[in-house]
Amino acid sequence: MIAGLSRPHCDRTQAWQLLRQHYAQQGRVFDLREAFRSDPKRVEEFSQQAPHVFADLSKNLVDAHVRSLMYELARECLFERHRDAMFAGQPVNNTENRAVKHWLLRSPKGASSDPDARAVHDTLDAMLGYAERIRADGAITDVVNIGIGGSDLGPQMAVAALAEFTAPGKRFHFVSNVDGHELAAVLAQLKPEATLFLIASKTFTTVETMTNARSAKAWFEQRGGKDIARHFAALTTNVEAARQFGIATTFGFWDWVGGRYSMWSAIGLPIAISIGAQGFRRMLAGAHAMDEHFRTAPIAANLPARLGLLDVWYRDFHAFASRCVAPYHSALRRLPAYLQQLEMESNGKRVDAQGRALSVATSPVVWGEPGTNGQHAYFQMLHQGTDVIPVEFIAVKGAAHALAGHHEQLLANALAQAQALMQGQGDAGGHKDFPGNRPSTFFVLDRLDPESFGALVAMYEHRVFTSGSIWGIDSFDQWGVELGKVLAKDIAPRLQSGEVQGLDPSTAGLLQRLR
Ligand code: F6P
Repeated sequence: MIAGLSRPHCDRTQAWQLLRQHYAQQGRVFDLREAFRSDPKRVEEFSQQAPHVFADLSKNLVDAHVRSLMYELARECLFERHRDAMFAGQPVNNTENRAVKHWLLRSPKGASSDPDARAVHDTLDAMLGYAERIRADGAITDVVNIGIGGSDLGPQMAVAALAEFTAPGKRFHFVSNVDGHELAAVLAQLKPEATLFLIASKTFTTVETMTNARSAKAWFEQRGGKDIARHFAALTTNVEAARQFGIATTFGFWDWVGGRYSMWSAIGLPIAISIGAQGFRRMLAGAHAMDEHFRTAPIAANLPARLGLLDVWYRDFHAFASRCVAPYHSALRRLPAYLQQLEMESNGKRVDAQGRALSVATSPVVWGEPGTNGQHAYFQMLHQGTDVIPVEFIAVKGAAHALAGHHEQLLANALAQAQALMQGQGDAGGHKDFPGNRPSTFFVLDRLDPESFGALVAMYEHRVFTSGSIWGIDSFDQWGVELGKVLAKDIAPRLQSGEVQGLDPSTAGLLQRLR
């Protein structure tokens, strides 16, 4: 039996029982303000420097006892063996019998003895060479990525996050939705001879992507476009299907790269065109540094592991159902959407890796908007609502612009919000009272550059691995997306024919209304 797969149920461990007791007696009434008063070293003890990312965890509802019980829980749940199984290339995605090796995509040439390492670097070199040729090709002004989910969110987030490093003269568009309004609005801005379409799909079967790809190809040909090999490239594990579709320029990857973990593979081509081969390699290097940290640091000094354990503490003991992500940098505006897929598609499961029902709560809802915008929208609820929602602040020390005063304002707001959540104000019980004692984590990057961005994203990947590992689930499958796809296939022709037989009355009524 593979070590990573025979994991005990977390709620049957001794550590879980002790955590439960501790929560009932002290955890429930833990007070952050009191904790800071009684422990002058709290910030030091609850901070963690990881490669390119610093985290202040001190404003979380955790004391030294909870922390050591959480480490004990990780040990009892065989977390380290599970992590090592992933890095050893074992099939930790057991429901699909696949290895999970996105970390290999970031491993420097010659550093890994994995049998796929060579193919990874050959593909990377080819893809980066192509990216450089496109960058140098002044006739191509527009790059359109057609893909959805993991074939959209990562590259879209990264191109925005690293806009400071983008080559001038290229515009990037991302079309994901099958809603034709999206593609039509992009096509309206394009000229076939100046456009490169990237068809990004791990499977090359996803209905949305195939529908958009067909329409883009038809548009290209109708407008007199001729050279498909020059104007279309496919990024996929299913190179054969791309060829059949008529695309000769293809960059492949492997079934051991999950869609939501794929921006480091050929799926990252838009990023490489945007920031160049060197920039892409810097992003991989940042992620690799985080991989090494996660792989080798003891749990007590391992940032992704500490975060994943904190997530379990909040979700299963405090019963917090959501987490808010507030990047205080507008270039990180797509991070919350990216994290929604990463975390909720990975850990939104109700059975363990063997298919047995779980009796613990799993993935929280992850949501958020860049600061300071969120402050003028939903922060009211974070401060004074009835639910406690842990907040995650991400601040970047250096700004990429020269506008006086803005960055100080931005950072002051991030600090003030975290402070206000914790401190609260007043105790008269009126509208102006803030209860305080509301938890937050505060991340600091020195600069938002390819290395720190790569490290940040890898940190989140490994954090999701950690909580999924404790919960005993397969974080790398996504069976929950299948049913809707099957039903949509049945309903689509009914919108044409009006046939409602076999449909429930509500769906039948709505279908009639929508025809
Ligand atoms: O439907 C969910 C999903 O399979 C995601 O996991 C994936 O990222 C997305 O669809 C797109 O899949 P593909 O890259 O195969 O088109």
